[in-house]
Amino acid sequence: MAVRKISEYPEDVLGRVGRPVTEFDERLAALCADMYDTMYDAGGVGLAAPQIGLDLRLFVMDCDGIKLIAANPEIIHAEGEQSGQEGCLSVGKVPAVVIRPMKARLKAQNEKGEWFEQEAEGYAARAFLHETDHCNGKLFIDHLPKLRRDMVVKRFKKEKNWK
Ligand code: NI
Repeated sequence: MAVRKISEYPEDVLGRVGRPVTEFDERLAALCADMYDTMYDAGGVGLAAPQIGLDLRLFVMDCDGIKLIAANPEIIHAEGEQSGQEGCLSVGKVPAVVIRPMKARLKAQNEKGEWFEQEAEGYAARAFLHETDHCNGKLFIDHLPKLRRDMVVKRFKKEKNWK
């Protein structure tokens, strides 16, 4: 188990559509353990493989009582609307208000390759959507109007320079 380096905007890997996960073996289990270590270390509630430099369709999350590993995730149903603050470990956790569906149903495979479906509402639904987006090469800032997106990027770059 190890904490991995987090890929940050604008690294290429964050904009790439992930490759499907095809091997459900000990290597995948070890990778997921590292992803959890990295996520908890950074104080996040979700982490997708591209965020540690791997173009794979895989994420882990522990948010609002829902803890799961999702390989090859798909959002098969979404409804309603919520407006709330969102941030991303790959964009320095700079927050911005993003409009998302209120409910989302996720279909994915666990670390053994078994398919499952899970429904979530509110913050956890937001995590499903945010992390599935990562697997499709999309960041939360891609949902923002240009001006707000530019503001988040500017603040992120500024904070990075202070470190
Ligand atoms: Ni993120």
